[in-house]
Amino acid sequence: MSSTTWADARGLCTFVDASPSPFHVCATVSVMLEGAGFTRLDERESWATEPGKYYLVRGGSLIAWSTERVNRTAPFRIVGGHTDSPNLRVKQHPDLVSAGWQMVGLEPYGGAWLNSWLDRDLGLSGRISVRVGNAVEEKLVRIDEPILRVPQLAIHLSEDRKGVHLDPQRHVNAVWGVGAEPRSFIEFVAEKAEVPADTVLGWELMTHDLAPSSVVGTDESLVSAPRLDNQGTCYAGTQALLAAAEFPGDHVPVLALFDHEEVGSMSDRGAFSDLLSTVLERIVIGRGGGREEFLQVMAGSVCASGDMAHATHPNYPDRHEPAHRIAVNGGPVLKVNQNLRYATDSAGAGAFAVACDQAGVPLQRYVHRADLPCGSTIGPITASRTGLSTVDVGAAQLGMHSSRELMGAWDVRAYADALAAFLTPTG
Ligand code: CO
Repeated sequence: MSSTTWADARGLCTFVDASPSPFHVCATVSVMLEGAGFTRLDERESWATEPGKYYLVRGGSLIAWSTERVNRTAPFRIVGGHTDSPNLRVKQHPDLVSAGWQMVGLEPYGGAWLNSWLDRDLGLSGRISVRVGNAVEEKLVRIDEPILRVPQLAIHLSEDRKGVHLDPQRHVNAVWGVGAEPRSFIEFVAEKAEVPADTVLGWELMTHDLAPSSVVGTDESLVSAPRLDNQGTCYAGTQALLAAAEFPGDHVPVLALFDHEEVGSMSDRGAFSDLLSTVLERIVIGRGGGREEFLQVMAGSVCASGDMAHATHPNYPDRHEPAHRIAVNGGPVLKVNQNLRYATDSAGAGAFAVACDQAGVPLQRYVHRADLPCGSTIGPITASRTGLSTVDVGAAQLGMHSSRELMGAWDVRAYADALAAFLTPTG
């Protein structure tokens, strides 16, 4: 594997802290790819025809690949993941006053565990559309200052002190000051972004916890961080692609990171879009192939859909399938669901098991309790949109969709090793 860059727990912490929004995930991955000699392509232009290392960004999604040193008819090996995480996002008319407090109206994105967003010092990130003449330009925004807070109710004011039911309409607005006159939050954002307030025409702005990610435990065996679902995969997948691009093989390694998984993937850049299939077809066309050759290549290609997996929770072991205990630092996880909430079939399971064997890491097998609704991933969507043989895999964590999640420190490397081996199958 490449010695210049490799996955470890502290590297993951740095990655996550640099990436508070899907747009920032793409920016962080872009910097890593550019540092390894990848060239950014524009979907609106003709693409370079010479073999090489390339990537493109569509909104909060990114696809990267290397055709260096692989023959023209090589099938794809794809690692997929998602760049978005559940959080609280800014409404269109965010300025509120309540009981003398100045508030910012927020709305949950995806299946956020609302309790975990209370009483945290929150920053803001995302992107804004800025009017320049009659054109509109996108600008990334990031405010790493504690400007927002969603305050919890005092226990003395809750009914029978058993906690409160959190209503997503009424209970997750943030305070950002006091005073009877509403202030314009978007004006404040414009000032921070150094653009005139009246030029800000649209925004995708979201909150993030400002506490830095850290390696925790007396033996430093755990990573405590926000957005591990699914930046754990974005980080491991990027490292895997960088390693795979260094080795000639019989496959074209591809990294596909999609926005909007947490809300169903149906957007111009989600896994339900044409993004992956058009990019893969253009890779074949760029190498002199046609539709027939593209379809041949697709038939031999395999996708590993990477997303985080549920470790068995020590305080709630009864919530898990008793014969399928999943341990942190126990190695990558194969996710199987008979009702196809995960795309894994026996062929995909075989491909990933071989990759784990080649990487020298153990493989764990996850099955959700049959009496609890199972979550899903980009796996079934990618499989049905592209016809690619797909396997759902991940790394174990606790507290999925909390604003602060926990995974095994050793698993970061093991997961990246397995994904790298998956991208470069040998023999
Ligand atoms: Co996920």
